[in-house]
Amino acid sequence: MQKITRTMRTLIPRSFKLPAPAIVAAAITALGCAPSRGATVDPGAPHLQRQGTATQLVVDGQPFLIRGAELSNSSASSLDFMKAVWPRLVASRLNTVLATVTWELIEPQEGSFDFKQVDGLIEGARANDLHLVLLWFGSWKNGKSTYQPLWVKTNQARFPLVESERGGSLITLTPLSDANCEADARAFAALMRHLREVDARQHTVLMIQVENEMGVLEESRDYGPAASRAFAGRVPEELMNYLVGHRDALVPELRALWDANGSRTSGTWTDVFGPGKPPGTEIPVRTLAPPMTEQEHETAWRKLVWPVDEIFMAWHYARYVNRVAEAGKAEYPLPMFVNTWLQQRDHAWPGTYPSGGPVPQVMNVWQAGAPAIDVLAPDAYVPEFEEVCERYHRCGNPLLIPESRGGARGAAQAIWAFGNLDAIAYSPFGIDRSAEADTELAQAYDAIAQVSPLILEHQGNTTMAALIVGREGVPQTVRLGRYQIEARYGARGPGPGLAPLSPERVAGLFISTGPDDFVILGRAIDVYFFPTGAPKDSVGLGTVEEGTYMEGRWVPGRRLNGDETPEWKALHFPAERYSIQHVRLYRYH
Ligand code: DGJ
Repeated sequence: MQKITRTMRTLIPRSFKLPAPAIVAAAITALGCAPSRGATVDPGAPHLQRQGTATQLVVDGQPFLIRGAELSNSSASSLDFMKAVWPRLVASRLNTVLATVTWELIEPQEGSFDFKQVDGLIEGARANDLHLVLLWFGSWKNGKSTYQPLWVKTNQARFPLVESERGGSLITLTPLSDANCEADARAFAALMRHLREVDARQHTVLMIQVENEMGVLEESRDYGPAASRAFAGRVPEELMNYLVGHRDALVPELRALWDANGSRTSGTWTDVFGPGKPPGTEIPVRTLAPPMTEQEHETAWRKLVWPVDEIFMAWHYARYVNRVAEAGKAEYPLPMFVNTWLQQRDHAWPGTYPSGGPVPQVMNVWQAGAPAIDVLAPDAYVPEFEEVCERYHRCGNPLLIPESRGGARGAAQAIWAFGNLDAIAYSPFGIDRSAEADTELAQAYDAIAQVSPLILEHQGNTTMAALIVGREGVPQTVRLGRYQIEARYGARGPGPGLAPLSPERVAGLFISTGPDDFVILGRAIDVYFFPTGAPKDSVGLGTVEEGTYMEGRWVPGRRLNGDETPEWKALHFPAERYSIQHVRLYRYH
């Protein structure tokens, strides 16, 4: 029996003793989120903390890996509806549910708040031993403004909308309005105050998503009066100073654009960032080819198109969201993130995806404008999952996946994101429609739950890696310690031939627990080890065990050898489901 050890390294040196609340506040401040004005910070309160190169969520003093899933948008609005959902969520082996809290439900009349739904959600989560991440559907959801109370929706003189170039409003509150921002911030602050009152001790609620997939859809920017005035003016000094101060650390997409326009350190928006959408251009619903050429269709979705429009909107959304988040954190400083509708092949031009949202090419603009937001997060549904995650895992931004796919694909993605890029959370969308025991997701989450303490221990250092291997059969390799590890797709079933249900993409997670020891989570792969630095050596399998972790202790199953270790030199992970093996290697020559 082997006990998983936990050697947590923190931001605060051991010799530097602070009172516990200050440790949390210091850790929070070090990561850029302001502690609350005067609110007592409980040392166990969820907060973000560095471990090596990783940023982890810490809850009740322990690092926490979110095995999450998001409910469909409307599910959490009815506690009755949720009654039948809770047990299915538990069966899915989640530890955290992402659930909406909407402005219309908590503030039906201005200034008069109703938290019945929020309290019911918290009660439901507690009764089922689950945590919550609450999604604040305030001013925006998928670029539109449809979750405001009627007193907001129907008073456009007070709460102005984005206007299109042609004239006329879109159903999107303009981010260039103090009235919009203040009303949203007041409601959000009331929500956070309430969460402090009901949850500051129990920490059922872990994090908050502020707004949902914001940005302007159907236009590349706001053409309303306030926006037009601002657009004709100069780039604000705060943004210019940030870009100048971080010049060498900017994402290459933004840096290249800035340089191409003369690297100006002041000027109007178009002086500094170049032209926007050509006047009179209609935004297509999707950027299919045509109107794009085939080549543009394949490449444009990775670039800044009509850059100034997107950068201008990103700055104004970021400033607005920062005020909302700051108002909330002043009441209860939970970690906060924003999520993103991504630019993608058929949505390549700003306006075909929400223009101004935190897409990777403007992440520095968001970091400059919204320091109260701790994480910029992708809703990663696209096939280029790894590329998207890598683009978000830059400039100190931790990886958190609030929405993605479930099923076998989601399982592989979750393992890869936790193991390779130190993700805080993985969360498929629409879980109330698919949650059951024994789904692909439930099986994978069960295996991830077993190795979570090890994943958390090894995040942020160089002792863990993950690979995704595809059915097309290209082997993937990674170097870990003294070994080069190669994973080959190996979907044999229990009998001869391929397992009928072996998925298209599978993951392998490799944790080096000693110089020659590895804990590996995998499915449908054969794993080979090669020596590094000693070319004459061969690697032998000393001992191989399959097994499970029960409450952190390794419980060995079969000792594997012979036909279960292909060619006597590889580990084989069966195709049916993710499983765990321990291997001790040795060298011979
Ligand atoms: C992304 C949004 O953020 C969600 O609220 C939901 O609308 C999903 N898309 C639906 O796929």
